[in-house]
Amino acid sequence: MEKIVINGGAPLYGEVAINGAKNAALPILLASILTRDKCVIEHLPAISDVALALEILRSMGAGIKMLTRTSVEIDATHVRGGIVPYELVSKMRGSSYLIGAELGRFGAAHVGWPGGCDFGVRPIDQHIKGFEAMGAKIDIENGYIVASAPDGLRGGQVYFDCVTVGATINIMIAAVLAKGNTVIDNAAREPHIVDLANFLNTCGAKITGAGTGVIRISGVERLHGCTYTIIPDMIEAGTYMAAVAATGGKVRITNVIPKHLEIISAKLEEMGALIEEEDETITISSTGDLRRANIKTLPYPGFPTDMHPQMSAVLCCAKGTSIVSEGVWENRFRYVDELMKMGADISVDGRTATIQGVERLSGAPVRAVDLRAGAAMIIAGLAAEGRTEISGIGSIERGYDDIVGKLKALGANIKTIYCSDENELREAQ
Ligand code: EPU
Repeated sequence: MEKIVINGGAPLYGEVAINGAKNAALPILLASILTRDKCVIEHLPAISDVALALEILRSMGAGIKMLTRTSVEIDATHVRGGIVPYELVSKMRGSSYLIGAELGRFGAAHVGWPGGCDFGVRPIDQHIKGFEAMGAKIDIENGYIVASAPDGLRGGQVYFDCVTVGATINIMIAAVLAKGNTVIDNAAREPHIVDLANFLNTCGAKITGAGTGVIRISGVERLHGCTYTIIPDMIEAGTYMAAVAATGGKVRITNVIPKHLEIISAKLEEMGALIEEEDETITISSTGDLRRANIKTLPYPGFPTDMHPQMSAVLCCAKGTSIVSEGVWENRFRYVDELMKMGADISVDGRTATIQGVERLSGAPVRAVDLRAGAAMIIAGLAAEGRTEISGIGSIERGYDDIVGKLKALGANIKTIYCSDENELREAQ
């Protein structure tokens, strides 16, 4: 068991480089099996979800060669269809993209129910509706999603009842090799959807409209391999921005697309931080003296739900009363109990949290109940007085590449410790 230990109170200064986006990397890696060829994917984040995606591909017969810490060659020539083990796919939500990828390549898929963070109910009805519109038959059997399209998928008209990133991605992946044209209406518009479309188009797909609410895909006979570089992770960048806002200091964040961060930047400026943008860089400075703000999370270009817990941690340190409303997930408030252990004053009613800023948070033993909740604990720990010990850090490692090392380089007093069963602690960093 590992824990992250933080002695809070140090402002952050220096420069930090952002890695490739997790939520772009996962669909791109899994969609690479649509090619019967080699793809080189660059600028991958070194995180456990990516390692898991590569393990899944390996288990399906793909050749996986790490070229550097952040780039991989995938040889999908000999990939097999069939059952993708439950133990692998149940660990992350992105594994649902295998349904689209396997249906596209083999006309059949047999994939364990996808896991991922616990935000309450996470249905896949829109994915199923989309596959059915393309002629597939879908059954749920013994915890597996069993999909078949014996005569191959055909293009279809898909209108989503809600804006969903996962179903938009899954249908896009499935439609690339389908016969005829597919139109996805009410599509999600996140930057990682555009990135996936760019990757598939680089492989020879014909996708237009990604980044708008209507995506059109003309099916092609086959895809070829390519070399592709993943976009920077806007949520990783936003997390460092939130950390600096809370602790005070000045940090230059490199390898970002400032346009993707505009809504986060605007909110942090409203709270009193100062933000300067250059081409691929953002510099944030903060005195740590912040004003209250209200946040409502929405699908892109609205405020990202994946920044919700981190922003709540920052708002705990701001003067006044803030309201945070969750507009995407049924329940993303499991982090609130943990922040309250640190002295936060938060009440939750349905999908809305009311946060009363406090003079200072105080360090405490807390748990990373999910990925972004874990990031919120780190931010709270950095801003708090005293020692914070965060357990459950496997959740954080799913999505942040070396967050401890990066924060340490910015002056944070933070380390990972390994705890044996006898509760002996051995310092690792
Ligand atoms: N929904 C349905 N039916 C469906 C699919 C979704 O009702 O068939 C609902 C969900 O219940 C939710 C809303 O639609 O209320 C949005 O879900 P979406 O499908 O957009 O989410 P997702 O694809 O499962 C991805 C990210 C999440 C991120 C959301 C929203 C990946 C691997 N995961 O999840 O990222 O919160 O989009 O932007 O891309 C994270 O990185 O920490 C993370 C949780």
